[in-house]
Amino acid sequence: MPDEDLPPAPRRTPGPGTLSVWAGEDEPAPGAGTQVPIVRSVAFGYRDVAQWEAVGRGEAPGDIYSRNTNPTVRAFEQKIQQLEGAESATSFASGMAAISNTLFTFLTPGDRVVSIQDTYGGTNKIFLEFLPRQSVEVALCPTDKSGWL
Ligand SMILES: Cc1ncc(COP(=O)(O)O)c(C=O)c1O
Repeated sequence: MPDEDLPPAPRRTPGPGTLSVWAGEDEPAPGAGTQVPIVRSVAFGYRDVAQWEAVGRGEAPGDIYSRNTNPTVRAFEQKIQQLEGAESATSFASGMAAISNTLFTFLTPGDRVVSIQDTYGGTNKIFLEFLPRQSVEVALCPTDKSGWL
């Protein structure tokens, strides 16, 4: 039977297993690889400064510096974003980098944070020392009373 006579294949929403493997893997990998490689380059070069500037301004696809964006990290973040059904995702090299970045990005002087007393030591130090120094009020409730939150 010719292909055009076949009914269209049913489209299924990809499940978590499929997303874990394929989300963020839309671009062809170099050398006909089937998965995005681990790109260890710190910086990325372009044929001329104009192209580099276009990428830097976000007007052309690409990466400039791996601490900001990197093909491997982008694929990982897109997997997390799609698995979580989130608007976007970002990743960090350590737990404390994620926690401190989140707190110091969103909190401004005069804000109040409410959490539990028994957080990880580094997190507790931010709550008890660093945030009060930035005029952020921190209220930590007994951990077994987290219902108070
Ligand atoms: C609950 C919790 N938060 C934060 C951290 C800090 O993570 P990292 O050591 O990657 O900075 C840890 C580490 O064990 C943790 O258990």
